[in-house]
Amino acid sequence: MAPPLIEVPPALLERLRSAERVVALTGAGVSAESGVPTFRDAQSGLWAQYRPEELATPEAFLKNPRMVWDWYAFRRTLTQKAAPNPGHVALSRFQELFGDFTLITQNVDGLHARAGSRDVIELHGNIETTLCFDEGTVATEIADDGKSPPRCPQCGGLLRPGVVWFGESLPQAALERAEQAAQRCEVLFSIGTSSLVHPAAGLAWVARRTGALLVEINPTSTPLTVHADYVLSGPAGQVLPLLVQQIEAVRG
Ligand code: OAD
Repeated sequence: MAPPLIEVPPALLERLRSAERVVALTGAGVSAESGVPTFRDAQSGLWAQYRPEELATPEAFLKNPRMVWDWYAFRRTLTQKAAPNPGHVALSRFQELFGDFTLITQNVDGLHARAGSRDVIELHGNIETTLCFDEGTVATEIADDGKSPPRCPQCGGLLRPGVVWFGESLPQAALERAEQAAQRCEVLFSIGTSSLVHPAAGLAWVARRTGALLVEINPTSTPLTVHADYVLSGPAGQVLPLLVQQIEAVRG
């Protein structure tokens, strides 16, 4: 058998052999191999002239609702065309491997659920959800009247994507669940995230403070790298399947 691409340190495998309370926090890097651009990738085509920070804010939406709605409609076409990659599929196996596993994601593309992960904590919402900008309620029927953005069927206000924008607070229940999981876990995997955006990035510190083992999976270094107990430097789509294979071998 060809030697594994990335060697998983035996001491890490030893810890994972008996670990039960495990958390994985993922970012856009996990969806990169599905063809979904990460936030720090340059924007393409029409959107190349904008930075996400200039579009993903309530102010940008109120200033130019059509442009922001159309940007998300464009990103929805990308995520709907995308398929879960081997990294998503491997992460869905963590649920079977560990007795008390929690998957927390910053991604809004829904690919973890499509790969079979259950009960995913979506800290930044989901691009397939649409909300009324004024009421904050979920809009289930969206009139196909060509208006962009469409209007709320209840109050006539503007509809918006159900994602967290810069400057907005995260869904409270999701954040609390994520913080509780980070406080209780024995191991926290930080996968495919630049660890730059809080409060999501703070979850690794919450776990570390309560004595959890920190494992980072990322081809490049981040502010977390020097504090991680283990760093598996490679693309999630290659590292995670290998990691699952080796965890299955030690957990029998
Ligand atoms: P970023 O684009 O900031 O970071 C992506 C990370 O993935 C980088 O550290 C890359 O090195 C890494 N990466 C790239 N390809 C990878 C691969 N194949 N496997 C593993 N890692 C890979 O995306 P996020 O960290 O998710 O917030 O960004 C966090 C938040 O910033 C987003 O949720 C968004 C943005 O502002 C909101 O929209 C509120």
